Amino acid sequence: MIKKILVIHGPNLNLLGEREPGVYGNSSIDVLNRNIIDRAKEQGLQCEIFQSNHEGAIIDKLHAARTSFDGVIINAGAYTHYSYAIRDAIAAIKIPCIEVHISNVHAREEFRHNSVISPVCKGVICGFGFGSYYLAVQAMSEL
Ligand code: DQA
Repeated sequence: MIKKILVIHGPNLNLLGEREPGVYGNSSIDVLNRNIIDRAKEQGLQCEIFQSNHEGAIIDKLHAARTSFDGVIINAGAYTHYSYAIRDAIAAIKIPCIEVHISNVHAREEFRHNSVISPVCKGVICGFGFGSYYLAVQAMSEL
């Protein structure tokens, strides 16, 4: 059976390419999404991608994913650092989640050093630019 994965981009990631290019690069979310889909195909995975700036919408999507996907790759943006609600949603679903970040959050401001979602994720990949997502796709295919 073909593995189905869901990629969730959280708040402000719709502005990739415009937003702080020194940190997040010059390429848009559309470029990132095309590359993710290509990488997923190469790994024999089916992939859906979702972006939202709203905490509740991300939680609803996680709940829905529990019956229709085999795994989730999530960049929760700033929610990573304080959303206990997203953490609880990840803990509530039984499918594995991989946390990703474009930047190396540990090399940035202190408030980014803590992730409230890491303890309920299978693993964390950060600091490789868009490559963090591609590595997560590879990890997902090997889970
Ligand atoms: C981010 C890092 C977060 O601290 C930040 O709030 C983001 C993006 C990243 O991908 O590097 O929005 O998750």
